[in-house]
Amino acid sequence: MLYQPLIPPDYASLSEADFVERIERRRQEFGSRLVILGHHYQQNDVIRFADFTGDSLKLAQIAARQVGVECIVFCGVHFMAESADMLTDNSVAVILPDLSAGCSMADMAEIDQVEDAWDMLSSATDEKIIPITYVNSAANIKAFCGDHDGGCCTSSNASMVLRHALEEGEKILFLPDQHLGRNTAYAMDIPLDQMVLYDPQELDGGLTPQQVRDAKVILWKGHCSVHLLFTADHCDQRRAADPDVQIIVHPECDWSVVQKADLAGSTEYIIKTIEKAPAGSKWAVGTEINLVNRLAENHPDKTIQSLATVQCLCTTMYRIDPKHLLWSLDEFAAGRTPNRITVPDEVRRSALVALERMLSQVAKEPVAAK
Ligand code: 13P
Ligand code: SF4
Repeated sequence: MLYQPLIPPDYASLSEADFVERIERRRQEFGSRLVILGHHYQQNDVIRFADFTGDSLKLAQIAARQVGVECIVFCGVHFMAESADMLTDNSVAVILPDLSAGCSMADMAEIDQVEDAWDMLSSATDEKIIPITYVNSAANIKAFCGDHDGGCCTSSNASMVLRHALEEGEKILFLPDQHLGRNTAYAMDIPLDQMVLYDPQELDGGLTPQQVRDAKVILWKGHCSVHLLFTADHCDQRRAADPDVQIIVHPECDWSVVQKADLAGSTEYIIKTIEKAPAGSKWAVGTEINLVNRLAENHPDKTIQSLATVQCLCTTMYRIDPKHLLWSLDEFAAGRTPNRITVPDEVRRSALVALERMLSQVAKEPVAAK
Protein backbone atom coordinates (compact mmCIF):
# COMPACT_ATOMS: atom_id res chain seq x y z
CA MET A 1 0.00 0.00 0.00
CA LEU A 2 1.37 3.40 -0.96
CA TYR A 3 0.73 6.41 1.23
CA GLN A 4 0.72 9.93 -0.06
CA PRO A 5 2.85 12.24 2.14
CA LEU A 6 1.09 15.28 3.57
CA ILE A 7 1.57 18.41 1.50
CA PRO A 8 2.57 21.56 3.45
CA PRO A 9 -0.59 23.58 4.25
CA ASP A 10 0.54 26.75 2.43
CA TYR A 11 -0.18 25.06 -0.93
CA ALA A 12 -3.88 25.01 -0.04
CA SER A 13 -4.08 28.81 0.02
CA LEU A 14 -2.66 29.34 -3.48
CA SER A 15 -4.96 30.79 -6.13
CA GLU A 16 -5.41 29.37 -9.62
CA ALA A 17 -3.17 32.16 -10.96
CA ASP A 18 -0.46 31.25 -8.41
CA PHE A 19 -0.52 27.63 -9.54
CA VAL A 20 -0.25 28.57 -13.20
CA GLU A 21 2.59 30.98 -12.56
CA ARG A 22 4.57 28.65 -10.29
CA ILE A 23 4.09 25.47 -12.35
CA GLU A 24 5.04 27.29 -15.56
CA ARG A 25 8.11 28.71 -13.82
CA ARG A 26 9.20 25.21 -12.81
CA ARG A 27 8.64 23.91 -16.34
CA GLN A 28 10.85 26.63 -17.76
CA GLU A 29 13.49 26.10 -15.13
CA PHE A 30 13.70 22.35 -15.88
CA GLY A 31 13.39 22.76 -19.66
CA SER A 32 14.05 19.51 -21.53
CA ARG A 33 15.05 17.72 -18.29
CA LEU A 34 11.36 17.41 -17.42
CA VAL A 35 8.43 15.87 -19.29
CA ILE A 36 4.86 16.05 -18.03
CA LEU A 37 2.51 13.37 -19.40
CA GLY A 38 -1.27 13.70 -19.06
CA HIS A 39 -3.92 11.02 -19.58
CA HIS A 40 -7.13 12.19 -21.28
CA TYR A 41 -9.14 11.73 -18.06
CA GLN A 42 -7.15 14.39 -16.22
CA GLN A 43 -8.91 17.59 -15.25
CA ASN A 44 -8.29 20.69 -17.41
CA ASP A 45 -6.42 22.39 -14.56
CA VAL A 46 -3.77 19.68 -14.91
CA ILE A 47 -3.86 18.77 -18.60
CA ARG A 48 -3.01 22.39 -19.51
CA PHE A 49 0.54 21.74 -18.22
CA ALA A 50 1.10 18.45 -20.07
CA ASP A 51 3.84 18.28 -22.69
CA PHE A 52 2.05 15.26 -24.15
CA THR A 53 -1.48 13.95 -23.73
CA GLY A 54 -2.76 10.55 -24.77
CA ASP A 55 -4.49 7.31 -24.01
CA SER A 56 -2.61 4.65 -22.10
CA LEU A 57 -1.00 3.21 -25.25
CA LYS A 58 0.16 6.55 -26.61
CA LEU A 59 1.58 7.63 -23.25
CA ALA A 60 3.48 4.34 -22.91
CA GLN A 61 4.93 4.87 -26.40
CA ILE A 62 5.88 8.47 -25.58
CA ALA A 63 7.52 7.40 -22.31
CA ALA A 64 9.53 4.76 -24.20
CA ARG A 65 10.92 7.46 -26.52
CA GLN A 66 12.27 9.69 -23.75
CA VAL A 67 16.06 9.84 -23.61
CA GLY A 68 18.18 12.32 -21.69
CA VAL A 69 15.20 13.34 -19.56
CA GLU A 70 15.69 13.41 -15.79
CA CYS A 71 12.10 13.30 -14.68
CA ILE A 72 8.71 12.27 -16.04
CA VAL A 73 5.80 13.57 -14.01
CA PHE A 74 2.96 11.22 -14.85
CA CYS A 75 -0.47 12.79 -14.51
CA GLY A 76 -2.47 9.61 -14.66
CA VAL A 77 -2.79 6.57 -12.42
CA HIS A 78 -0.33 4.21 -10.79
CA PHE A 79 -0.23 1.41 -13.39
CA MET A 80 0.54 3.98 -16.12
CA ALA A 81 3.45 5.38 -14.11
CA GLU A 82 4.74 1.83 -13.55
CA SER A 83 4.71 1.21 -17.31
CA ALA A 84 6.54 4.49 -17.89
CA ASP A 85 9.17 3.48 -15.33
CA MET A 86 9.69 0.10 -17.01
CA LEU A 87 9.94 1.61 -20.48
CA THR A 88 12.52 4.22 -19.51
CA ASP A 89 16.09 4.05 -18.40
CA ASN A 90 16.84 3.82 -14.66
CA SER A 91 18.24 7.35 -14.78
CA VAL A 92 14.72 8.70 -15.48
CA ALA A 93 12.66 9.29 -12.33
CA VAL A 94 8.95 8.69 -12.92
CA ILE A 95 6.87 10.65 -10.42
CA LEU A 96 3.17 10.20 -9.66
CA PRO A 97 2.08 13.50 -8.08
CA ASP A 98 -0.37 11.77 -5.72
CA LEU A 99 0.32 8.19 -4.63
CA SER A 100 -3.35 7.58 -3.98
CA ALA A 101 -4.07 7.82 -7.72
CA GLY A 102 -4.60 4.11 -8.28
CA CYS A 103 -7.05 2.19 -10.45
CA SER A 104 -9.71 0.10 -8.74
CA MET A 105 -9.87 -2.24 -11.74
CA ALA A 106 -6.14 -2.94 -11.58
CA ASP A 107 -6.56 -3.79 -7.88
CA MET A 108 -9.09 -6.52 -8.78
CA ALA A 109 -6.38 -8.95 -9.90
CA GLU A 110 -3.77 -9.83 -7.27
CA ILE A 111 -0.81 -12.02 -8.08
CA ASP A 112 -1.71 -14.81 -5.58
CA GLN A 113 -5.19 -15.03 -7.04
CA VAL A 114 -3.83 -15.16 -10.58
CA GLU A 115 -1.38 -17.91 -9.66
CA ASP A 116 -4.18 -19.96 -8.06
CA ALA A 117 -6.33 -19.42 -11.13
CA TRP A 118 -3.49 -20.54 -13.38
CA ASP A 119 -3.06 -23.78 -11.40
CA MET A 120 -6.78 -24.52 -11.61
CA LEU A 121 -7.08 -23.70 -15.32
CA SER A 122 -3.91 -25.56 -16.32
CA SER A 123 -5.00 -28.68 -14.48
CA ALA A 124 -8.42 -28.56 -16.15
CA THR A 125 -7.13 -28.61 -19.74
CA ASP A 126 -4.16 -29.75 -21.84
CA GLU A 127 -4.77 -26.95 -24.33
CA LYS A 128 -2.35 -24.03 -24.28
CA ILE A 129 -3.74 -21.00 -22.45
CA ILE A 130 -2.23 -17.58 -23.23
CA PRO A 131 -2.62 -15.03 -20.41
CA ILE A 132 -3.26 -11.50 -21.63
CA THR A 133 -3.54 -8.59 -19.27
CA TYR A 134 -5.03 -5.21 -19.98
CA VAL A 135 -2.35 -2.63 -19.12
CA ASN A 136 -4.70 -1.55 -16.31
CA SER A 137 -2.97 -4.04 -14.02
CA ALA A 138 -0.05 -4.12 -11.58
CA ALA A 139 3.46 -4.77 -12.89
CA ASN A 140 3.55 -8.22 -11.25
CA ILE A 141 0.47 -9.28 -13.26
CA LYS A 142 2.20 -8.11 -16.44
CA ALA A 143 5.28 -10.07 -15.33
CA PHE A 144 3.13 -13.18 -14.86
CA CYS A 145 1.85 -12.84 -18.41
CA GLY A 146 5.36 -12.21 -19.74
CA ASP A 147 6.58 -15.39 -18.00
CA HIS A 148 3.76 -17.52 -19.45
CA ASP A 149 4.08 -16.68 -23.17
CA GLY A 150 1.45 -13.97 -22.83
CA GLY A 151 1.43 -10.21 -23.02
CA CYS A 152 -0.40 -6.95 -22.48
CA CYS A 153 -2.93 -4.98 -24.43
CA THR A 154 -4.60 -1.61 -24.19
CA SER A 155 -8.09 -0.68 -25.32
CA SER A 156 -6.51 0.55 -28.60
CA ASN A 157 -5.03 -2.78 -29.59
CA ALA A 158 -6.90 -5.52 -27.69
CA SER A 159 -8.25 -7.25 -30.82
CA MET A 160 -4.83 -7.34 -32.46
CA VAL A 161 -3.25 -8.79 -29.30
CA LEU A 162 -6.02 -11.39 -28.86
CA ARG A 163 -5.70 -12.45 -32.49
CA HIS A 164 -1.96 -13.01 -32.07
CA ALA A 165 -2.59 -14.88 -28.82
CA LEU A 166 -4.99 -17.26 -30.54
CA GLU A 167 -2.31 -18.01 -33.10
CA GLU A 168 0.02 -19.00 -30.25
CA GLY A 169 -2.43 -20.98 -28.13
CA GLU A 170 -5.92 -22.43 -27.99
CA LYS A 171 -7.40 -20.39 -25.15
CA ILE A 172 -6.98 -16.97 -23.58
CA LEU A 173 -7.09 -15.95 -19.94
CA PHE A 174 -8.01 -12.25 -20.07
CA LEU A 175 -7.20 -10.07 -17.02
CA PRO A 176 -8.51 -8.05 -15.23
CA ASP A 177 -11.37 -6.40 -17.18
CA GLN A 178 -14.06 -8.85 -18.16
CA HIS A 179 -15.79 -6.17 -20.25
CA LEU A 180 -12.87 -5.24 -22.50
CA GLY A 181 -12.20 -8.98 -22.88
CA ARG A 182 -15.81 -9.86 -23.71
CA ASN A 183 -16.37 -6.91 -26.06
CA THR A 184 -13.14 -7.57 -27.92
CA ALA A 185 -13.61 -11.33 -28.25
CA TYR A 186 -17.22 -10.88 -29.37
CA ALA A 187 -16.17 -8.39 -32.04
CA MET A 188 -13.75 -11.12 -33.24
CA ASP A 189 -16.73 -13.46 -33.74
CA ILE A 190 -16.15 -15.51 -30.61
CA PRO A 191 -19.67 -16.22 -29.32
CA LEU A 192 -20.61 -15.42 -25.72
CA ASP A 193 -21.16 -19.11 -24.95
CA GLN A 194 -17.44 -19.71 -25.59
CA MET A 195 -16.52 -17.26 -22.83
CA VAL A 196 -16.59 -18.06 -19.12
CA LEU A 197 -16.10 -15.85 -16.09
CA TYR A 198 -13.45 -16.70 -13.51
CA ASP A 199 -14.41 -15.22 -10.15
CA PRO A 200 -11.35 -15.02 -7.86
CA GLN A 201 -13.66 -14.79 -4.83
CA GLU A 202 -15.08 -18.27 -5.48
CA LEU A 203 -13.56 -21.72 -5.07
CA ASP A 204 -11.93 -22.69 -8.41
CA GLY A 205 -13.16 -19.40 -9.79
CA GLY A 206 -16.70 -20.80 -9.74
CA LEU A 207 -15.89 -22.94 -12.80
CA THR A 208 -15.91 -26.68 -13.42
CA PRO A 209 -13.05 -28.28 -15.38
CA GLN A 210 -15.52 -29.00 -18.19
CA GLN A 211 -16.49 -25.32 -18.44
CA VAL A 212 -12.79 -24.45 -18.76
CA ARG A 213 -12.30 -27.09 -21.48
CA ASP A 214 -15.32 -25.80 -23.43
CA ALA A 215 -14.25 -22.13 -23.29
CA LYS A 216 -12.15 -20.19 -25.77
CA VAL A 217 -11.83 -17.13 -23.54
CA ILE A 218 -11.66 -17.15 -19.75
CA LEU A 219 -12.55 -13.69 -18.48
CA TRP A 220 -11.36 -12.45 -15.09
CA LYS A 221 -14.13 -10.99 -12.98
CA GLY A 222 -12.88 -7.40 -12.84
CA HIS A 223 -14.45 -4.17 -14.03
CA CYS A 224 -14.17 -0.40 -14.15
CA SER A 225 -16.69 1.11 -11.77
CA VAL A 226 -16.75 4.35 -13.81
CA HIS A 227 -17.62 2.74 -17.15
CA LEU A 228 -20.15 0.37 -15.59
CA LEU A 229 -22.28 3.41 -14.76
CA PHE A 230 -23.30 3.57 -18.43
CA THR A 231 -26.31 1.35 -19.17
CA ALA A 232 -28.20 0.04 -22.18
CA ASP A 233 -31.17 2.11 -20.94
CA HIS A 234 -29.08 5.27 -21.33
CA CYS A 235 -28.57 4.32 -25.00
CA ASP A 236 -32.32 3.75 -25.50
CA GLN A 237 -33.20 7.02 -23.79
CA ARG A 238 -30.73 9.03 -25.88
CA ARG A 239 -31.96 7.55 -29.14
CA ALA A 240 -35.60 8.06 -28.17
CA ALA A 241 -34.84 11.72 -27.36
CA ASP A 242 -32.90 12.28 -30.59
CA PRO A 243 -32.69 9.66 -33.37
CA ASP A 244 -29.76 11.55 -34.97
CA VAL A 245 -27.48 11.17 -31.97
CA GLN A 246 -24.44 8.92 -32.37
CA ILE A 247 -23.36 6.89 -29.39
CA ILE A 248 -19.65 6.27 -28.88
CA VAL A 249 -18.36 4.38 -25.85
CA HIS A 250 -15.19 3.02 -24.29
CA PRO A 251 -14.92 -0.80 -24.46
CA GLU A 252 -14.73 -0.99 -20.65
CA CYS A 253 -18.51 -0.48 -20.79
CA ASP A 254 -20.81 -3.47 -20.39
CA TRP A 255 -21.39 -5.64 -23.49
CA SER A 256 -25.06 -4.57 -23.70
CA VAL A 257 -23.96 -0.91 -23.94
CA VAL A 258 -21.32 -1.60 -26.60
CA GLN A 259 -23.93 -3.53 -28.61
CA LYS A 260 -26.29 -0.56 -28.56
CA ALA A 261 -23.55 1.98 -29.32
CA ASP A 262 -22.64 3.03 -32.85
CA LEU A 263 -18.92 2.97 -32.12
CA ALA A 264 -16.56 1.76 -29.41
CA GLY A 265 -12.87 2.41 -28.87
CA SER A 266 -10.13 3.79 -26.66
CA THR A 267 -10.05 7.37 -25.42
CA GLU A 268 -7.76 8.32 -28.31
CA TYR A 269 -10.17 6.70 -30.78
CA ILE A 270 -13.13 8.59 -29.28
CA ILE A 271 -11.27 11.90 -29.58
CA LYS A 272 -10.18 11.31 -33.18
CA THR A 273 -13.67 10.17 -34.26
CA ILE A 274 -15.34 13.25 -32.82
CA GLU A 275 -12.64 15.56 -34.20
CA LYS A 276 -13.27 14.21 -37.70
CA ALA A 277 -17.07 14.36 -37.41
CA PRO A 278 -18.92 17.09 -39.33
CA ALA A 279 -20.13 20.29 -37.67
CA GLY A 280 -23.66 19.86 -36.37
CA SER A 281 -23.19 16.19 -35.51
CA LYS A 282 -24.50 15.04 -32.14
CA TRP A 283 -22.70 12.69 -29.79
CA ALA A 284 -23.51 10.84 -26.60
CA VAL A 285 -20.20 9.69 -25.16
CA GLY A 286 -19.73 6.79 -22.76
CA THR A 287 -16.49 7.58 -21.02
CA GLU A 288 -15.02 9.62 -18.17
CA ILE A 289 -16.56 13.05 -17.66
CA ASN A 290 -13.40 15.17 -17.83
CA LEU A 291 -12.75 13.93 -21.35
CA VAL A 292 -16.39 14.37 -22.39
CA ASN A 293 -16.47 17.95 -21.07
CA ARG A 294 -13.18 18.78 -22.81
CA LEU A 295 -14.47 17.41 -26.10
CA ALA A 296 -17.57 19.58 -25.74
CA GLU A 297 -15.44 22.67 -25.01
CA ASN A 298 -13.09 22.00 -27.92
CA HIS A 299 -15.88 21.38 -30.45
CA PRO A 300 -18.57 24.01 -29.90
CA ASP A 301 -19.86 23.32 -33.45
CA LYS A 302 -20.97 19.82 -32.35
CA THR A 303 -23.32 18.67 -29.61
CA ILE A 304 -21.34 16.49 -27.23
CA GLN A 305 -22.81 15.14 -24.01
CA SER A 306 -22.20 12.33 -21.60
CA LEU A 307 -24.22 9.21 -22.38
CA ALA A 308 -25.14 8.94 -18.69
CA THR A 309 -27.28 11.21 -16.59
CA VAL A 310 -25.05 10.54 -13.57
CA GLN A 311 -21.56 12.01 -13.13
CA CYS A 312 -19.03 9.42 -14.40
CA LEU A 313 -15.85 10.70 -12.78
CA CYS A 314 -12.72 8.64 -12.19
CA THR A 315 -12.03 9.81 -8.66
CA THR A 316 -8.52 8.40 -8.58
CA MET A 317 -7.50 10.22 -11.77
CA TYR A 318 -9.00 13.31 -10.13
CA ARG A 319 -6.56 13.02 -7.22
CA ILE A 320 -3.94 14.59 -9.45
CA ASP A 321 -4.55 18.31 -9.12
CA PRO A 322 -2.45 21.49 -9.50
CA LYS A 323 -1.54 21.36 -5.81
CA HIS A 324 0.05 17.89 -6.05
CA LEU A 325 1.64 18.70 -9.40
CA LEU A 326 3.29 21.88 -8.09
CA TRP A 327 4.37 20.17 -4.86
CA SER A 328 6.07 17.35 -6.77
CA LEU A 329 7.88 19.84 -9.02
CA ASP A 330 8.97 21.91 -6.02
CA GLU A 331 10.27 18.81 -4.28
CA PHE A 332 12.21 17.78 -7.36
CA ALA A 333 13.66 21.29 -7.63
CA ALA A 334 14.79 20.98 -4.01
CA GLY A 335 16.81 17.88 -4.93
CA ARG A 336 14.33 15.31 -3.65
CA THR A 337 12.42 12.76 -5.74
CA PRO A 338 8.94 12.56 -4.25
CA ASN A 339 6.57 9.70 -5.09
CA ARG A 340 9.02 7.98 -7.39
CA ILE A 341 7.45 4.89 -8.95
CA THR A 342 9.94 2.07 -9.36
CA VAL A 343 9.27 -1.48 -10.38
CA PRO A 344 11.71 -3.96 -8.79
CA ASP A 345 14.19 -5.44 -11.29
CA GLU A 346 12.95 -9.04 -11.04
CA VAL A 347 9.36 -7.94 -11.84
CA ARG A 348 10.47 -5.41 -14.42
CA ARG A 349 12.34 -7.96 -16.57
CA SER A 350 9.29 -10.19 -17.08
CA ALA A 351 6.76 -7.36 -17.24
CA LEU A 352 8.84 -5.70 -19.94
CA VAL A 353 8.60 -8.88 -21.99
CA ALA A 354 4.80 -8.51 -21.89
CA LEU A 355 4.83 -4.78 -22.63
CA GLU A 356 7.36 -5.06 -25.42
CA ARG A 357 5.48 -7.94 -27.04
CA MET A 358 2.52 -5.58 -27.28
CA LEU A 359 4.53 -2.59 -28.50
CA SER A 360 6.32 -4.64 -31.16
CA GLN A 361 2.99 -6.00 -32.45
CA VAL A 362 1.59 -2.46 -32.56
CA ALA A 363 4.64 -1.30 -34.51
CA LYS A 364 4.03 -4.02 -37.10
CA GLU A 365 0.39 -3.37 -37.86
CA PRO A 366 -2.04 -0.48 -38.01
CA VAL A 367 -4.43 -0.42 -35.08
CA ALA A 368 -8.17 -0.61 -35.70
CA ALA A 369 -10.95 0.02 -33.20
CA LYS A 370 -14.46 -1.47 -33.53
P1 13P B 1 -7.31 4.17 -22.50
O1 13P B 1 -6.53 2.93 -22.83
O2 13P B 1 -8.37 4.46 -23.48
O3 13P B 1 -6.41 5.29 -22.21
O4 13P B 1 -8.11 3.86 -21.16
C1 13P B 1 -7.45 3.75 -19.95
C2 13P B 1 -8.40 3.72 -18.87
O5 13P B 1 -8.05 3.64 -17.73
C3 13P B 1 -9.80 3.78 -19.21
O6 13P B 1 -10.56 3.67 -18.09
FE1 SF4 C 1 -9.24 2.57 -13.66
FE2 SF4 C 1 -11.73 2.96 -14.52
FE3 SF4 C 1 -10.31 5.03 -13.59
FE4 SF4 C 1 -9.71 3.89 -15.95
S1 SF4 C 1 -11.58 5.01 -15.43
S2 SF4 C 1 -8.26 4.47 -14.34
S3 SF4 C 1 -10.17 1.72 -15.49
S4 SF4 C 1 -10.98 3.20 -12.41
